[in-house]
Amino acid sequence: MTVDTQDLSRANDTRSPPPPPGVESSADSGWTLGRIAQANRKSFVIGGVFLVASTGLAALIPQLLRGTTNAIVAADGARGMRLSLLMIVAAVLGAIARIFSRIWIFNAGRDVEYDLRADLLKRLHILGPSFFARTSAGEVMSRATNDLAQVRLLVGFGALNIVNAVIAYAANIPVMLARSPKLTLAALAPFPVFIFLTRMFAKPLFARSREAQEAIGGLSERAQQTLSAMRVVRAYRLEDPEAAAFKKRSDDSLSANLALARLRGSLWPILGTSAAIASLIVLWFGGMMVARGEVTVGDLLAFQGHLALVAWPTIALGYIVTILARGRASLNRINEILRAEPDVVDQASASMGEARGGLRVEKLGFSLGGRELLRDVTFSVPAGSSLAIVGRTGAGKSVLLHLLARLLPTPESSVFLDGADVTKIELATLRRNVCLAQQEAFLFSTTVARNIAFAMGEPDEQKSIARATEAATEVQLADEIATMPDGFDTVVGERGVQLSGGQKQRVSLARALLAAPKVLLLDDPLSAVDARTESLILDAIDRAAAGRTLLLVTHRIAAASRCDHVIVLDEGRVVESGTHETLLKGTGLYARLYEKQRIEAELEAMEASQS
Ligand SMILES: Nc1ncnc2c1ncn2[C@@H]1O[C@H](COP(=O)(O)OP(=O)(O)O)[C@@H](O)[C@H]1O
Ligand SMILES: [Mg+2]
Repeated sequence: MTVDTQDLSRANDTRSPPPPPGVESSADSGWTLGRIAQANRKSFVIGGVFLVASTGLAALIPQLLRGTTNAIVAADGARGMRLSLLMIVAAVLGAIARIFSRIWIFNAGRDVEYDLRADLLKRLHILGPSFFARTSAGEVMSRATNDLAQVRLLVGFGALNIVNAVIAYAANIPVMLARSPKLTLAALAPFPVFIFLTRMFAKPLFARSREAQEAIGGLSERAQQTLSAMRVVRAYRLEDPEAAAFKKRSDDSLSANLALARLRGSLWPILGTSAAIASLIVLWFGGMMVARGEVTVGDLLAFQGHLALVAWPTIALGYIVTILARGRASLNRINEILRAEPDVVDQASASMGEARGGLRVEKLGFSLGGRELLRDVTFSVPAGSSLAIVGRTGAGKSVLLHLLARLLPTPESSVFLDGADVTKIELATLRRNVCLAQQEAFLFSTTVARNIAFAMGEPDEQKSIARATEAATEVQLADEIATMPDGFDTVVGERGVQLSGGQKQRVSLARALLAAPKVLLLDDPLSAVDARTESLILDAIDRAAAGRTLLLVTHRIAAASRCDHVIVLDEGRVVESGTHETLLKGTGLYARLYEKQRIEAELEAMEASQS
C-alpha cells in the first residue's frame, strides 16, 4: 500500500467537519475488503501466480503417476524411470511454488494487520471522553487483538484458500472428466457431505475458540485488577473473595479451553474418515471399471491423486465460509473505532507561532452526559499575569482547565488565545503554547528522570537528564529523590505506586515547568503537600510564572493571594471575581474560606508550640 494516500486520506478526514449523526463518515476513514484487496494487490497477484504454478504442478503429478504405472504395467522400465524422475522434479518445484504462494499471501494478511493496528492506535489517540465512556478498555483491547487476528485470518488464510479452491477445481476436474465422467461423478458425490460436515464443525469451533479467548481475557483482566488494587485488597481483607473470583475465572478458562480441545480433537478424525470413504468409493467403483477394461490401473491411481487435490480445498471451503463471516464482523467492529468521531477535532485554520499568552474566556458553558458543568463563565487573563481559580470540590475547576487546553471539546467562540478562537488553532500549536499539569498525575512505569523529561524529544540524553534534575530541584523534589535507592534512575512502579501523592504531584509539576509553555495551567498542585513544602513550591511557581501566563487552581487561599487576580467558581459559575484584597473585604465564599484557613493555621501553630 502507498503510505502517501493513507496520510492524505487522514488529513482530509481531520479537516472535514464531522458528518451529521447517523450518516456514515467518509469511507476512507474505515477499511473495507475492497480497500484491503486494492492496497495489497501486488502481494495477491504475486502470491496468486505462485499458487497457480503450485496447483498446476500438483495436478501434473497424478498424470505422471498414471504414465509411470502404465509404463510399469507395460514393462517399459526406461519410460517409467523417466516419468518418475519428472514426477520428482514436479513435486519439488510445486513445493517451492507452494511455499512462495503462502509467504506472499500470508504476508499480505500480516501487512493488513500491521496497518490496521497502527490506524487503530492513531484513532484511539484522538478519540475523546464520549468514545471511552461507551467503550471499555477491555472492549478496545479485544478489538485490537481478537478482531485483528480474525481479519488477518480472513485476508491471509481465507483469501489463499478461496483462490486455491478455484484453481484446484479448474486444474483437476476437467482432467478427471476427460478420463471418465462416470468415475468423476462417483468421486465428487460425497463432496456436499464434506462441506456440510466442516460447516457443522466450523461454527461451534469458532464460538468455542472465541469463548476460550474471552475466558483468558477475563482471567487476565481480573488478575490485573486485583494486582493493581493490592493495597485495597489487603486493607479490607478481600483476599478470600478475590481468590474466589479469580478461581471462578480460572475454571471458566479451563472449561472453555477443554471444550475447544474436545471439538478440535474430533474434527480431524471425522474429516479424515470421510475423505477416506470418498477414496474407497473411487477404488471400488474404479476397480470394477479396471476389471471391465474401461480404464487402466494408471488411470485409477491418477484419479485418486486428482481427487485428493480437490478434496482438501473443498473441506477447507466449509471452514472458509465461517472465516469470511467472522472476518467481516470483526472488520466492522474495528471500523466502529476507526470511524468514531473525535470530540476535539483539529480543524486548523489559524496557525500561530509563539503565543503572547493572553487568555479570554467568554460565556463558556459546558455539559457532559446531560449535566451542565459550567455556565456562562467569563473572565480574562492578560498575557504574563496570573489568575487563581478557587472553589469547592466539584465546582468545575478541573473541567474548566481541560476546556482551556482543549483536552475536552471546547465550544466555539468561547475561549480565545491572543484573540484567536482556540477551536481554530492547530492542536499541535495550541499544545505547545498551553500546558496543563493535571490534578491526578499519571506516571509511567519507568524511572523518575524519564517521567519528568518524557515530553522532551530525547529523554535519555545527558542534556535532558540535567534539565529534569533542575526541574525536580525547582519543585522541591530533588532531596526526596536522592534518598531513593537509585536516585533519578529509580523505577517508580506501575503508575508510580512507589511515590507518595505529593511526590507524584510534584513530578507532574516539574513536567509542566520543563515544557515551558506560554500559558501554564496548574490544577491544584498543592493538594497533597505539607505547609512548608507548599510555600517552597509556591516560590517555584512564582519563578516559573515570570514571562508567562499562569492559571492556578487551588483551594489554598495562601496560594491564591499570590496571584494578580482571583475568580471563585461555584457549581460551574463564576460567583466572585477580583483581587485577593478586594475579595477579602466581601462576605462571599472567598472571605469565608480565608477565615476558615486562618483559624486552621492558628490551631496548627498552637499545637506545634505545645508539643
Ligand atoms: N468525565 C466526566 N463526566 C461526567 N461528569 C464529570 C466528568 N468529569 C467531571 N465531572 C463532573 O463535573 C463536576 C466538576 O468536576 P471537576 O471539574 O473535577 O471539579 P473540581 O472543581 O473539583 O476540579 C463534578 O460534579 C464532576 O462530577
Ligand atoms: Mg479538580
